[in-house]
Parts: sequence; C-alpha cells; structure tokens
Amino acid sequence: MSGWRRTLGAVLTGCLLICKGPAAGAEYPRLEPLPAPATVKPALAKLGWHLFFEPRLSGDGSRSCASCHLPSRGYADGQPLSRGYNGTEYFRNAPGLLSVRLKARLMWDGRLDGADLPTAVRDMVTEAHFMNADGRLIQERIRQIPELLALWRDAFGAQSQPYGPQLFVAIAEFLKTLDSGDTLVDRVLRGDKVTLPPAVREGMALFSGKGQCIRCHNGVLGSDGKAYRLGVPEHPAIAAEPLRMITLLRHHATMGVPNYMAERKDPGTYVVSKQAADRGRFVTPALRGLTHTGPYMHNGVLATLDDVVAFHDKGGGPGSELQPLGLTARERTALVAFLRAWSAPLPAMSEPPAYDYWLTGAAR
Ligand code: HEC
Ligand code: HEC
Repeated sequence: MSGWRRTLGAVLTGCLLICKGPAAGAEYPRLEPLPAPATVKPALAKLGWHLFFEPRLSGDGSRSCASCHLPSRGYADGQPLSRGYNGTEYFRNAPGLLSVRLKARLMWDGRLDGADLPTAVRDMVTEAHFMNADGRLIQERIRQIPELLALWRDAFGAQSQPYGPQLFVAIAEFLKTLDSGDTLVDRVLRGDKVTLPPAVREGMALFSGKGQCIRCHNGVLGSDGKAYRLGVPEHPAIAAEPLRMITLLRHHATMGVPNYMAERKDPGTYVVSKQAADRGRFVTPALRGLTHTGPYMHNGVLATLDDVVAFHDKGGGPGSELQPLGLTARERTALVAFLRAWSAPLPAMSEPPAYDYWLTGAAR
C-alpha cells in the first residue's frame, strides 16, 4: 500500500472511531424506557392526593393545585399562559406533571432541583401569584377538617399535628405516583419484539438521526435537563396585559435580577445564573404525554406538535441554538407520529370527596 493510501486509510479508520456526526446520534445519551413505578408510602401519598385537590390550600380558598394542573390535561391546563392567583396572571405555560419525579430541573427556567419536589410544592402554595397562602394558616385549616386530620395522623402518627413543611412532603409523595404510562415506544426501547406503525418507526429513526432531536431530548423523559435558546417568539399577552407584566417583574425581583425593572421580556435561565449567555434559554421539556399537554413551549405560543416540529425544522427563531434541518413534509409528519406514540392514554384519576370544617368549630 502506498504512503498516501495508508494515511487515508488511517484517517478513515480514525474517523470511524471518533468522527461520529450528529446524524449517528451515538455521542448523546439514548432515549430510555419508563422505569418501574416509584415506591411511595401509601398513607402519605393518600394524604397528598387529598391535599392536591384541596382549595383551602390557597389564601382565599378559591383554587387547588388541580385548578392549574388538570388531571384531564396531563396535569397541564390547556392554556398558552397560566392564570395566576386572583388579581394576578402568570407569564408562562403551566407544565404537565406526569412523571415529574424523573425531571432533573423544575420550572421552565430550571430554578429548582428535580430532587427537591417539596420545595416546588411550597413555592406553589406560598407564592403570591400561585396560591398565595401562608404555611401556618393552612396547617391550622387542615387541623380544623376532621377527615383530613385523621388522614394526617394515618400518615404521620397518632399524636401528630398538621405542619406546613410536612404538608409539602405529602403532596410531593402524591406527585411521585403520577406516571406517564408505558407505550409501544418504551417496549421498543426495552428491546421487546414489537412492530411499530411505519410512520412511528421512521419518526423514531429521524429523532436520533437527521432530526438531531436526541442532542437535547434524551434519557428517560426525552430531556437532558439543560437549557437552550430556540428563539421562541414572545407571547404578545405579556407586553399587552399589565397583570402578566407585573408578575414577570416581581419574579425578576424575587430572583435578584440586576436592574430588574428594565427586564420586560422573559429571559429564562438568565434569572437563575445571571450569565448573559443564558438569556432566552429554557430547560429542554420532557416529551412524554405531549398529546395531553398542548399548547407548547415555555409560553404556549405553538398550538400543535406539527407547529413545534416545523419550528425546530426551520432552525428556530432569532438567536436560536438550533440548525435548520431541511426535513421533507413526510419526515415532519413521521416525527409528529413518533411524538404522539410516546404518549400513553391518561391514567385514571378520581377526585377525593370534599370535607367540611368541624361543625362545632372546636379544634381537636
Ligand atoms: C395558578 C396556577 C397554578 C397553581 C394553583 C399551581 N401551579 Fe404548579 N405550576 C404553575 C406554573 C405556571 C408552573 C411553571 C412555572 C415556571 O416555570 O415559572 C408550575 C410548575 C409546577 C411544578 C414544576 C413542574 C416542572 O415540570 O418543572 C410543579 C411540581 C408544580 N407546579 C406543582 C404544583 C402543586 C403541587 C400545586 C399545588 C400545591 C401547584 N403546582 C399549584 C401553575 C400553577
Ligand atoms: C438544542 C436543543 C434542542 C434540540 C436539538 C431539539 N429541541 Fe425540542 N426543545 C428544546 C427546548 C429548549 C425547548 C423549549 C424551548 C422554549 O420553550 O423556549 C424545546 C421544545 C420542544 C417541544 C415542546 C414541548 C412542550 O412541552 O412544550 C417539542 C415537542 C420538541 N421540542 C421536540 C423536538 C424535536 C422533535 C426535535 C428534533 C426535530 C427537537 N425538539 C430538537 C431543545 C431542543
């Protein structure tokens, strides 16, 4: 073999080992099947189920967790932007809560660690724009509802009294029971011999190949837990509706953003890191259960999965970290078919009965 041929051969062999382009998808973690359900303490999760639906956990008793996280919508709310507490409105989309226990980061800007669900629950209960309640107020309310006090004592012991921080732990235990459900795609990921519909199979190959989705959407939820800028357009209602702008600015103030009154667009993870490079970055969302949780993106500006795939295909909006993909119409349809196939039918969820306060008003 001549010298140059040997060199070319060496380069090609080397390249087979290290030049795996994104098309191969091999350098990214894979998609993973759904793990076994979480082991929970049944009495604690049962108490948490009651509390999730309990409106007296909000300041004026008007709303529960389930008012914004609807079981019939995969625990999202179907609105582009979430409502806020009475007299406020929020500036982001309410995320679904199926399989939330498996998330690495919580909130669209990733401000909380996924391992700390009780803190997320506490923020939901106490923040002025979610439920606006005080921990000591609600612990006394629970003490004044005989059936809930009994459930509390089943969970925490016969002598125990309702206590704010434990209340958040109970709701977090309930959240751990919300699984997105097994799908045909999970069976393929487990190596079972199942036949996927042709479009789904094609979409699954595109997801890790030409579509490059696997770069960011990987692991068990289809999320790497990191934040990227896709250049998603602002939702016009934030600038147009004073109540949403007020909440946005309050969020910046709470997070210690410098010169926060001048931040009139949602800068995503920048409010957490204060690094300029993070402006406009949001945490990669999980992709399980998407058929239940639209509209999509951190501000709900994209109504359908077709819109979302077309947006990624054109390389996103201004400042995006995506590359244009040049997908054909058929390939976009196949990707949507795959995303839909990764949603299981909604798991059944019943509402607990509503209970009154002690009739005599005397706390036990
Ligand atoms: C007024 C509407 C509203 C209410 C009430 C509400 N939430 Fe939320 N929830 C949201 C919104 C909006 C977000 C996303 C906030 C963000 O990213 O800035 C969120 C985020 C979350 C998250 C993080 C999810 C993720 O994927 O990052 C959890 C967990 C959660 N809520 C649980 C609860 C629980 C439990 C309750 C009741 C104690 C509750 N929420 C009450 C609107 C609400
Ligand atoms: C560079 C990382 C990256 C790549 C590559 C990527 N995405 Fe995304 N994706 C994101 C981020 C970040 C968001 C949320 C952006 C926002 O709201 O500002 C998102 C949003 C989505 C959503 C909306 C989910 C929801 O609940 O709102 C879907 C669906 C989605 N991506 C599918 C795909 C598909 C399909 C591909 C491949 C064609 C892909 N993504 C490639 C990072 C990425």
